[in-house]
Amino acid sequence: MEKLVIEGGHPLHGEIRISGAKNATLPLLAATMLCAGTHVISNVPNLRDTRTIVKLLRSFGLECQPDAGSEWRICADKIDNFEASYDLVKTMRASVLVLGPLLARCGVARVSLPGGCAIGARPIDFHLQGFEKMGATITLREGYVEAKSPGRLQGADICFDIPSVTGTENILMAATLAQGRTVIKNAAREPEIANLIDMLTGMGARIEGRGSDMLAIDGVKELRPAATAIIPDRIETGTYLIAVGATGGEIRINNCRPDHLPMLLDKLRRAGMEIEVGNNWLLAGRRGHLSNVDIKTMPYPGFPTDLQAQIMALMTLTNGGLSVIQETIFENRFMHVAELNRMGAHIRIEGRNAIVRGGGLLAGARVMATDLRASASLVIAGLAAQGITEISRIYHLERGYDNLSAKLIDLGARVEQVQETA
Ligand code: UD1
Repeated sequence: MEKLVIEGGHPLHGEIRISGAKNATLPLLAATMLCAGTHVISNVPNLRDTRTIVKLLRSFGLECQPDAGSEWRICADKIDNFEASYDLVKTMRASVLVLGPLLARCGVARVSLPGGCAIGARPIDFHLQGFEKMGATITLREGYVEAKSPGRLQGADICFDIPSVTGTENILMAATLAQGRTVIKNAAREPEIANLIDMLTGMGARIEGRGSDMLAIDGVKELRPAATAIIPDRIETGTYLIAVGATGGEIRINNCRPDHLPMLLDKLRRAGMEIEVGNNWLLAGRRGHLSNVDIKTMPYPGFPTDLQAQIMALMTLTNGGLSVIQETIFENRFMHVAELNRMGAHIRIEGRNAIVRGGGLLAGARVMATDLRASASLVIAGLAAQGITEISRIYHLERGYDNLSAKLIDLGARVEQVQETA
């Protein structure tokens, strides 16, 4: 196993290019299962989660071929297995995204229930209730969801209690081939869903309401493959922005979508960062002190829960005072707090709020990554801390950050990935 060793205290300077979005890659690759033919997906990031979804698609019989650079060709002519095993699903919850396409095209799917994870219970009841409304039979047996639909799925009116990202994507994919109209109310509005809608529309799907919380899908009999590009990763972009806020310096971030980060840019400017925005680039830096801002995570376009841990690391470095960070999406997403406190931060948890006292000086320490975004917050803390930080279990980071060490080194950070000794 590898660990990341960071010598902190060096401001970031330079340029980086943002990779394709992890959270768009997973539904877009799953959507290739909806019809036979060869799909071409470009701007695919090199991530552990990408490898997991490719493994899953191959296990169903699809042929997945990486082309030059970040392009993948996926031939979905043959599907001869309908089961996603526990071994794959346990490493990546988003594996449940294969349910919708399998059910729509093959009328049958058996997918291991993902179970809880480090950040909370994370049920998939909205997905399953949606499929049932569309006429599928759902049985839970031996830890697996068994879904069956003897004929085509039927269009239905589906209303989510709270907007679910993968829930919206799963129902959306299933509805493209259903008979009649499906309406999804209180749908999630994340940019990755718009990316999926663009792909599905290119494949011949009929979808209204892109970007809104109500989607209407008129099912078609067949789809055809289409070439699609994955949008830049807004969470990766946000992580580097917050990193330069923490270390000081100035960086240019290329191939990104600043319009996908409205709330973060506003908060970082209010915290004292200078940020210039272009169509697909950002120039960001910090010269003066940082101020406290309060954060409340919300579904898009609110502040993303996937950047909550990172901004918490930043708030430990302000000029004093308190920041209240409220997590409303996941009930247990404060695993990074104990590790940040080990580095000298002053954070206390009160229910769903983390109260962060600024003015602290972080000091390097040996810390443990617990989940993907918690690990990113430890990297940010390590970059800003005095001395050496060692982060173990960095496979969490590899799930969602393409070439993290190399990109940080390009920005002048002192980072090394080394083998952990037993
Ligand atoms: C997706 C993202 C993840 C992000 C999260 C919230 C992907 C692959 N992952 O996860 O990075 O942190 O959105 O922006 O895109 N819920 C239920 N029942 C359900 C589904 C969800 O109660 O059937 C609840 C969840 O527990 C959570 C909330 O709804 O409290 C939102 O979760 P959801 O949007 O579904 O998260 P994911 O799609 O799993």
